[in-house]
Amino acid sequence: MRKILRVPLARRIGLAALVLLAAIQFIPVNRANPAVDWSQSIYATLPMPAEAKAVFERSCKNCHSDETSWPWYSYVAPVSWFVARDVHQARAAMNLSEWGGYSANQKTDKLEEICEQLTNGDMPDRKYTLIHWHARLTAKERDLVCQWTEDSREY
Ligand code: HEC
Repeated sequence: MRKILRVPLARRIGLAALVLLAAIQFIPVNRANPAVDWSQSIYATLPMPAEAKAVFERSCKNCHSDETSWPWYSYVAPVSWFVARDVHQARAAMNLSEWGGYSANQKTDKLEEICEQLTNGDMPDRKYTLIHWHARLTAKERDLVCQWTEDSREY
């Protein structure tokens, strides 16, 4: 008797979860990519070797630029909420597309910060490299980008 009662309850909970999951898909998520003014991008404002540019494009730009390629899971709530929050926070912290808008001091700080984050292994974000293996950096790439940040600081 008990067993029979348990089944519909589990089903009801399952159904309620499905309905809830379906309902939250309608909550709007801001996945807008602001229009890019190329003259303001880091590539237009700082000389950068192609190898360093390749690292930024491969491992950072999805979060730290206005040119985000939103992955499929960024369309599925509730994961989409966290992805969008990460991108908005990342853009606010450092936006490669809007580099030209930073003051000389901010640029220097961010360049220092880039090397620091790479050296600590804090960036690219671990949640991201867990899924996007190709975004991982080799030691050689880290050194190359760090060297470039040092060379670029007097600009
Ligand atoms: C999955 C998204 C994601 C990726 C990919 C990513 N970052 Fe970040 N990054 C963030 C977020 C989110 C923050 C803000 C963290 C905070 O505010 O606590 C951040 C912060 C930073 C900061 C700190 C800026 C400051 O002034 O405080 C730097 C520098 C940085 N990231 C560099 C990089 C570099 C370089 C790469 C590529 C090698 C990269 N990030 C890849 C999400 C990302």
